[in-house]
Amino acid sequence: MEREKFSSRLGFILISAGCAIGLGNVWRFPYIVGQYGGAIFVLIYLVFLVLLGLPIMTMEFAVGRASQKSAVKAFEVIEPRKKGWRFIGYFQAMGNYLLMMFYTTVGGWMLSYFVKMIRGDFVGVAPTGVADIFSQSLADPFLQVFWMIVVVILAFTVCSFGLQNGVEKVSKIMMTALLAIIVVLAVRAVTLPGAAEGLKFYLIPSLEPIYKYGLIEVIFAAMGQAFFTLSLGIGAIAIFGSYIDKERRLLGESISVCTLDTFVAFMSGMIIFPACFAFGVNPESGPSLVFITLPSIFNEMWLGQLWGALFFIFMSFAALTTIIAVFENMISFGMDLFGWSRKKAVVVNLIAILVLSLPCALGFNIWNGFNPFGPGTFVQDLEDFLVSYNFLPLGSLAYLIFCTSRYGWGFDYFLTEANTGKGIKFPRWIAVYLKYILPIVIIVIFIQGYWARFF
Ligand code: ALA
Repeated sequence: MEREKFSSRLGFILISAGCAIGLGNVWRFPYIVGQYGGAIFVLIYLVFLVLLGLPIMTMEFAVGRASQKSAVKAFEVIEPRKKGWRFIGYFQAMGNYLLMMFYTTVGGWMLSYFVKMIRGDFVGVAPTGVADIFSQSLADPFLQVFWMIVVVILAFTVCSFGLQNGVEKVSKIMMTALLAIIVVLAVRAVTLPGAAEGLKFYLIPSLEPIYKYGLIEVIFAAMGQAFFTLSLGIGAIAIFGSYIDKERRLLGESISVCTLDTFVAFMSGMIIFPACFAFGVNPESGPSLVFITLPSIFNEMWLGQLWGALFFIFMSFAALTTIIAVFENMISFGMDLFGWSRKKAVVVNLIAILVLSLPCALGFNIWNGFNPFGPGTFVQDLEDFLVSYNFLPLGSLAYLIFCTSRYGWGFDYFLTEANTGKGIKFPRWIAVYLKYILPIVIIVIFIQGYWARFF
């Protein structure tokens, strides 16, 4: 069976960006920036994006394009004699499932908040009441599971229409809408009276967070965020390389995707921090920032219900484009590995994901006695930790070694693939950095991060 292809280059860029742009940009980025004290974190994060995100994304695209397969088969097709790589491909595929195990639940929160905003559930509710609404919905297993199911069914339905008619078409519409809404919301936020303080917090670096948390922890968080936001290391991005032709060099495509991703993360901050400071709200409230803090802010704003609804539909689109992209990966695993039809792969994965998402959805209520990292942490924290601090960096390390070492594909073959076509060339002089420095950086930060977290 011939592999499906995107209908246009724009489709490829927008879907890859849609896979990258997600809760990591609009939810995780602002709250981590808030926790780690603003601009200094943003700076370190940007450095990682360029030094680590860009080359690894290019490697993923190259592996995808050269193999014309998803993560479960890609290494095996390129290097059939080096058998160990096959298992790494399976490990990366598992990362996709683990990511979706908590992502679908949070995606459900976004969608449910959009509906709440439209219904006006927060109108006239005091901030403590808004917090109660969030904790009550977490405590309700039915609600958690219901919205998770809605998200899963929606996304798989899109995928069931195929690559061009489903995934590409819908992602293009959602991404375009998302980019338009984000600009409108940012203009609204930065023109609020008192917004300047928020911009200062966000854009002017201070060393205070480094003293408070230690440099290593801030660096580890920034690196984790760079991997997370680009969905690197699990083949989620690689697969889109398998749906394109050889007309363009791959570094330029990676730059486009990373730029869009950074734009959205940056703009999310431009929405959230000015709004927090304009209404005297602490931006350090962590994951609940957008669900507790922001509805109260919208309450205070003129036309707040409209802004709130726009904000949460924007969040929902960001989440859904990622979910659709990762589901497309899972469908392709089934098709590549077992020769299933798209329909069969959709049905099997739909059932699998519904079941696998339950621990997270129920972790806040029925299973809230399970606190993996101490009081106030739940199944979701464990899953997020496993993905962000393990699967993504280790999977990325695997791409790095595969593309630069003779134990894998090797740098010359990678370079030939990446540089086939027109556009920006992937430089050869960077080889030493990629072979000897970057892997060590990843390993050291990985180990240090564990150390900082547990000891
Ligand atoms: N890259 C995806 C996100 O940022 C996982 O949400």
